[in-house]
Amino acid sequence: MRAYIAGIGSYAPDKVLTNADLEKIVDTSDEWITSRSGIKERRIAAENQAASDLALIATERALKSAGIKAKDLGAIIVGTATPDMPFPSTACLIQKQIGAPHVMAFDISAGCTGFLYALGVAEIFIKGGYDNILVIGADILSKFTDYTDRTTCVLFGDGAGALIVKKGDGTRGILSSHFASDGSSWQLLHQPAGGSRMPASIETVEKRLHVIRMQGNEVFKLAVRAMSDAAVKTLRAANVSPSEVKLLIPHQANIRIIEASAKRLHMPMDKVLVNLDRYGNTSTASIPLALDEAVKTGRIDRGDIVLMIAFGAGFTWGGVLFEY
Ligand code: ACO
Repeated sequence: MRAYIAGIGSYAPDKVLTNADLEKIVDTSDEWITSRSGIKERRIAAENQAASDLALIATERALKSAGIKAKDLGAIIVGTATPDMPFPSTACLIQKQIGAPHVMAFDISAGCTGFLYALGVAEIFIKGGYDNILVIGADILSKFTDYTDRTTCVLFGDGAGALIVKKGDGTRGILSSHFASDGSSWQLLHQPAGGSRMPASIETVEKRLHVIRMQGNEVFKLAVRAMSDAAVKTLRAANVSPSEVKLLIPHQANIRIIEASAKRLHMPMDKVLVNLDRYGNTSTASIPLALDEAVKTGRIDRGDIVLMIAFGAGFTWGGVLFEY
């Protein structure tokens, strides 16, 4: 028996923030952003939109694509680094909004790897007897981005993606996964204030401590190593070679990280899905947004083998290999 993807949906807000727009806000250029990150534009949530609002639209699309109703769901798991609020979980807000039964609902915090972690947990629950699990990746990083800091504000965008994961007969579905973490370098990417260590105060607001702090070049090196490691270990666990993979869907953080990871796997770039030029780094939404695009544009078909790999704050990383 295997857990398989029965439906998928995604959503990105309408508002587009281009590199030209950012040139007017900070000392940067389209040339710098494009050559250093590969990003040309990103989507920005409206002021009144929270992570659950984006997730709700992606969920409705995923339910439709799977041909099931909210009442059929067996669990809801949301990977997010930017929940609507510290508590309750975004998953519980989704449960209410879609009118799902009183099923288990919880969030997973694993930075940008949150969506893959959530999928890995869903697989375990499916093997334990659950069915029809709604797995979501939803993030609004723009609300935690310092638009006076040119080293981070050019990178992030907003979005959401959702999957319906079902119990299958074993002919298709998740073949293997690998998850890891190393908290020793957490300071390289974090939001200093707003948690129990440094609760919100006038001082934390004045010092701009409620936004993303990142040492990009250090994170870059760790990301390349971790994403490659995740890919190799996930493939090895299923005894599948890179040449058998139809499409690699990496977390969309930086084109140079993606290219370096693909090179280490000896995978040509035409087997790698890249959409960060249009969305930037959408954290947990990046992989499901890309997967939805791969399905809709016909880049993958039923029976194809797909490898997804991610890296995020924590640091966390992981991979999921599946037959679509
Ligand atoms: N425009 C113009 N110049 C800039 C900008 C900008 N937007 N940002 C930085 N610079 C300057 C720096 O000030 C520096 O100038 P200096 O040499 O005079 O000091 C120079 O460009 C080089 O800066 P670096 O940080 O070394 O540039 P780098 O090539 O490393 O690229 C980047 C920066 C794009 C952030 C890259 O390091 C990166 O992508 N890192 C990984 C980020 C990442 O993946 N994070 C997410 C993983 S987890 C998650 O997704 C949440």
